[in-house]
Amino acid sequence: MEQSESSLQRVRLVSMRYGARDIVLYELEALDDTELMSVEPGAHLDVHLLNGMVRQYSLLTSQCDARRYVIGVKREESGRGGSIWLHDNARVGQVFEVSVPRNHFALTEGDAPVLLLAGGIGITPIFSMFQVLCEQGRRVHLHYWCRSTEHALFRELLEGRQNVTLHYSNTSDTGRRPLLDVFQGVDSNTEVYCCGPQRMLAEIDIIAPQLGSRLHVERFQGAESVATADQAFTVVLARSGSEIGVGVGESILEVLQAAGADVMYSCEQGICGACEVKVIEGEPVHCDSVRSAQEHQRRGTMMICCSSSVSNRLVLDI
Ligand code: FES
Repeated sequence: MEQSESSLQRVRLVSMRYGARDIVLYELEALDDTELMSVEPGAHLDVHLLNGMVRQYSLLTSQCDARRYVIGVKREESGRGGSIWLHDNARVGQVFEVSVPRNHFALTEGDAPVLLLAGGIGITPIFSMFQVLCEQGRRVHLHYWCRSTEHALFRELLEGRQNVTLHYSNTSDTGRRPLLDVFQGVDSNTEVYCCGPQRMLAEIDIIAPQLGSRLHVERFQGAESVATADQAFTVVLARSGSEIGVGVGESILEVLQAAGADVMYSCEQGICGACEVKVIEGEPVHCDSVRSAQEHQRRGTMMICCSSSVSNRLVLDI
């Protein structure tokens, strides 16, 4: 099942505001007297668009409360169509279903300094983190890369602050620094949170081994391709004892769906975390962007929409 019906909440679009060039802020209000689940920085939710698409958007948590969720959506001409639908077709008054928020990008507690890195619309979770950290009095510096002043979301709130550096790609300003340069002089215990496009995250991957568990990454684009089996294997559903074959070129999720198994999923791209399941036995190949392989190993989980198996038998807690 895509989402259990009971886990969906109905909200009304009550306002659309200009955020920056190509970015619109959508305010979604709870229907009737219902209260929305509280959200922490880094959380996102699935929005069921009225054309049948389901898309994931980070919440601007500092603008959310028990009655409203706010998301910022950039129009992506080369995206999968969700942002274009919203920009072209969303109207105040429309009612949408949204999931319960999920958070795989939460701030860790403690007093270590924090480095926040945002690229493009990746500013939405990072801005929420920045506001909370400033309120807590924690040492934080935000670097935000975007095309120009026109494209900078919340520019009026960020510009001129000592602990914010804005990097514009359309300027020859010598103050603009390449991504990896910002790590120079950073304390060795600094926690790093990064959200941005693939090319930015590819740069971060270069220093990921040095940062280890201090690096926290949120991706808003899936992997270029979803992994499918390059050798056949069997998935065992532990709760029923059913055994289902996954053939070469097939994904676990599609095979389980075809067999009528009751599984949760949403993005089908390895970016939302909805399809995470416990692995009881076997050796998965992790291809999602939600968790590192180490995190999966620690939690004993995998994402079945995009990951595969090197063992002939994979026993899942389904
Ligand atoms: S359905 Fe989103 S990560 Fe698998």
